[in-house]
Amino acid sequence: MKKLIIAVSFVISFYSYAKSSSPIGVFDSGIGGMTVLEKMLTIDNFDNVTFERKSDGRPDFEGESFIYFGDQANMPYGDYAAHGKSEYLKRLIVADAEFLLSKEAKSLVIACNTATAWGLTLVRERSAKDDVETTGVIEAGVRSALTEPTAVNASGGFTIGVMATPGTIASSAYERTVKEQTKKMGVTGKVLVFSQGCAGLADAVEAGLVDAEKIAVENFRALKAKADAAKEPLRVVILGCTHYPFVLDALQNEAPNVKFVDPSLATAEECYLSLKNKGLLSKNKKSSLKVFISVPRKDLDKKFLDENGSLTRECKYGRDINDKTLWTEVKPYTSVDAAKNNFISRALPAVSKMLKGENK
Ligand code: DGL
Repeated sequence: MKKLIIAVSFVISFYSYAKSSSPIGVFDSGIGGMTVLEKMLTIDNFDNVTFERKSDGRPDFEGESFIYFGDQANMPYGDYAAHGKSEYLKRLIVADAEFLLSKEAKSLVIACNTATAWGLTLVRERSAKDDVETTGVIEAGVRSALTEPTAVNASGGFTIGVMATPGTIASSAYERTVKEQTKKMGVTGKVLVFSQGCAGLADAVEAGLVDAEKIAVENFRALKAKADAAKEPLRVVILGCTHYPFVLDALQNEAPNVKFVDPSLATAEECYLSLKNKGLLSKNKKSSLKVFISVPRKDLDKKFLDENGSLTRECKYGRDINDKTLWTEVKPYTSVDAAKNNFISRALPAVSKMLKGENK
């Protein structure tokens, strides 16, 4: 009997060690989710030995392996809703999760607001079957924004601005979440959410265009005009797309007194706490990162491709839920093109180091 107990506890501890060494799966439609990954690689809000909430000079995710997937071939995700293709988008989002689960991910992070807005429930249902928890970015972003003292308005309620993809805004996910959270907090004052769907901004960031900053500022001005028209001072704006922290400097320059909230910090904390509660934080010493992207399938008819070799917009947004064609394939992201590399290393030094294999 004693031997059996020893054998069973040996198997259990071996299983939990193996599971804690599995990777954390992070996904987005492109490089935007790397802004969340950067926070996960650098955050130090907890003591790694006692798990108390206090910095100890060691990254909280020390020793973790990460698998990042960017569904570049199908992006921008933010445009599917406007084409009436939200059901197809949901299928893409679940496929992203399936890919990471097939790589034995122990936890999933949807590092994309649009995918969180349209697919969080579905991905949670799917990952629960593998006993894997999923963290999204929207609740985390709202919780952070509501801790900002300047978000409190004259009536004792909250005034929050949201810049996001047209698809995220169309889902009303931010508005709904702000209303839910403030209700839970027992807020009785006015709760105002001003939203701006920033068409073209995520794709401009993805392409590394200087135009991205211009588009960001124009959209911020349009958002501010909505608050001005309602005579409400706008002091807190959520960057509701993971591509937007890349243009934070331009936005901050335009509006130095506005607090732009990046949900990635709270998202990283949420994922950390979920792993801690399940006893799944890695016991390893060295972190690692593997990046995968989707590309159009090599044997695809050229008529579906544009001059850059990407799926044409007609093709992307013409597909519907019954479409059985396999349009894309996944490949490891071995080398980053020079323009994107510059862009990433400027804004995301920790990710950039890992991409270059300098994670010693
Ligand atoms: N990064 C994604 C987000 O946070 C969206 C980009 C896209 O439209 O694909 O919403």
